Amino acid sequence: MEIRTVGVLGCGLMGSGIAQVSAAAGYRTIVREVNDPALQAGLGRIRKFLADGVAKGKVTEDAQTKTLGNLTGTTSTADLKDCDIVIEAIVESLDEKRAIYQAVEAVVRPETIIASNTSSLCITELAAATTRPDRFGGLHFFNPVPLMKLVEVIRALTTSEETSRALTAFAGSLGKEPITAPDRPGFIVNRLLVPYLLDAIREYERGLGTIEDIDKGMKLGCGYPMGPFTLLDFVGLDTTYYIANIMFEEFREPRFAPPPLLKRMVLAGYHGRKTKRGFYSY
Ligand code: CAA
Ligand code: NAD
Repeated sequence: MEIRTVGVLGCGLMGSGIAQVSAAAGYRTIVREVNDPALQAGLGRIRKFLADGVAKGKVTEDAQTKTLGNLTGTTSTADLKDCDIVIEAIVESLDEKRAIYQAVEAVVRPETIIASNTSSLCITELAAATTRPDRFGGLHFFNPVPLMKLVEVIRALTTSEETSRALTAFAGSLGKEPITAPDRPGFIVNRLLVPYLLDAIREYERGLGTIEDIDKGMKLGCGYPMGPFTLLDFVGLDTTYYIANIMFEEFREPRFAPPPLLKRMVLAGYHGRKTKRGFYSY
């Protein structure tokens, strides 16, 4: 099936990036948020990213205009009815995801593919929550989506060969490098990345060093683009906490357990850059 119109659910950190790269690749793109303030914040993020890109000489004014011209924002699920694929990038909650799939399935065609950008939830379980488990799969983008080249493509037990091929081709058409990852919590990248981030918090709690020194150590000592605490604030402490809980629930290994400090920071509303406070203040 040819993909022409793309729906994106959620215009937060990830949804805004996915909508941007989809519109930039020439797809008519419709992004849905829960309310107008959230939608305007997300669309504002896209406009700023493109304007910064133009200022840096990385995006042409023509590409900026075309991308914004391909993009529509909405708060109504009904506006997604013509979408050939709908990519869900809402909060990491099984119940919320199930509810939005039901609403989407009420308006889209039977052949429309639904993909989730979940970081850690079971793709087979999400697929089973729909009436199209064969036309459902995982499409896991990385933050910041317009700059990170990787997309993990995940097959549920029920995903058809045709859907899997369509998801891989779609990721490639966005200028991304797709890899195939198993339907296990964390897929490939988060399976290795999240224990490292959780370990950094645990060792900080044990007095390994200051946040600044641990970050500097990993950045300058290993050439990582960001130290673990900068990256935690960047990903979102709430999102990291959800991911850790889901991984720990599945594997029952201490290395996936959320450290006590992470839990308390999330409860306090310190979610990182997006709330202007995390391990650093913004
Ligand atoms: N438009 C177009 N291009 C832009 C741009 C914009 N608005 N802003 C920056 N760029 C370009 C820059 O021009 C630069 O290009 P060159 O390399 O060709 O010079 C490149 O993007 C990097 O930008 P900067 O130099 O301004 O910034 P930086 O070097 O500090 O890099 C970063 C920023 C890419 C975010 C880098 O810090 C990084 O890679 N951080 C780690 C991010 C990471 O690990 N992400 C994964 C998180 S885990 C995840 O996502 C999965 C999950 O489920 C939780
Ligand atoms: P976020 O909190 O920045 O954004 C989520 C957005 O979804 C919010 O703006 C919220 O208003 C919106 N939303 C909630 N319910 C909705 C609904 N029913 N319809 C439309 N919009 C709705 O979160 P995020 O970091 O963008 O994460 C989104 C998903 O992407 C999660 O599943 C997360 O695990 C995954 N993910 C996150 C990262 C990351 O680095 N943050 C990376 C890859 C994947």
